[in-house]
Amino acid sequence: MVYQHVLRRALFRSGGGDPEVAHERTVAAMSRLGRVRPLTAALRRFYGASTPRTVFGVRFPGPVGLAAGVDKNGVAVRGWPAFGFGFVEVGTVTWHAQPGNPRPRLYRLPASEAVINRMGFNNLGAAALAERLRRMGPAPVPVGISVGRSKVATDAVADYVSSVRALWPYADYFAVNVSSPNTPGLRGLQDRSALDSLLAALSPEAHGRPLLVKIAPDLSFEAIEDVLDVCHARGVAGVIATNTTLARDGLSPADAGMAAQDGGLSGRPLAGRSLAVVSFVAGRSELPVVGVGGIHTAEDAQRMFDAGAALVQLYTGFIYRGPALVRRINRLAAR
Ligand code: FNR
Repeated sequence: MVYQHVLRRALFRSGGGDPEVAHERTVAAMSRLGRVRPLTAALRRFYGASTPRTVFGVRFPGPVGLAAGVDKNGVAVRGWPAFGFGFVEVGTVTWHAQPGNPRPRLYRLPASEAVINRMGFNNLGAAALAERLRRMGPAPVPVGISVGRSKVATDAVADYVSSVRALWPYADYFAVNVSSPNTPGLRGLQDRSALDSLLAALSPEAHGRPLLVKIAPDLSFEAIEDVLDVCHARGVAGVIATNTTLARDGLSPADAGMAAQDGGLSGRPLAGRSLAVVSFVAGRSELPVVGVGGIHTAEDAQRMFDAGAALVQLYTGFIYRGPALVRRINRLAAR
């Protein structure tokens, strides 16, 4: 409540109301917080919960993770656990540093508790992330590294391979992002033969680190079955479902004007589809599933767990509901 009425209001107004400025300030603040060890430890006792679980061979202190895209350059890995996150997925990072799409590229749809983004993998590059994580030393919680394709890459497979080669010593798992809608051609890597070639090339480069594939909510169930076949054949450790959607269903009429913005939609309107995809994947395969998309209440998270998710991740729900949401899910999971 304090978050929604006070902090969120201030945050949404900051930077003249530019959501990207609010985002940058939040990440910078979390980075600073991460340097104050006694404070992070105290906050972690409040927001976290000891509900450890081992999934794809990695021990997680709690089931709620920070989704990819929040901390693209891994600058606040020590900060996020203070707000109860049991793992942090940094990235998506690409082999080449790149600026992403022109601003503005991030929009709030408050009446729908949604966001549209077309960031386009703005990041400092895989080598910079590797150097940062090396200097940071052991992380307080497992770190997943999300890898994607550089916009300038002519050979997508070689581009992902370069990133994984540079980053494997610092990854507790890799998320192979083939589902962002904001890099032309990226989603084509979910096609059977393209995905097969990509995973065949990445497996030996990951040095035993689990590889997870992150999928789009816009795939048909038939296409998801193809993805799962390839995942099984290539020894993939898990599936992250889902990324943002190109659909514009479920928006509040107050946000209708925003629907025409290009990019991926996240948040509340995505909840039903993400849940359906998690349920489908969990029903069709033995692979552990990380459920993400439209989790804004502890009950939303419970539905994900009931549908078969082993872990969940938050992005847009965290923007609208704040750290209390992480705490509530942690407490629910501890019951
Ligand atoms: C994202 N997401 C995302 N996913 C990913 O795999 N790599 C990325 O770089 C990003 N970047 C990104 C930026 C912004 C501004 C948003 C809102 C989202 C997708 C995110 O990790 C998640 O899969 C979806 O947003 C659905 O979850 P929520 O937001 O509904 O909880």
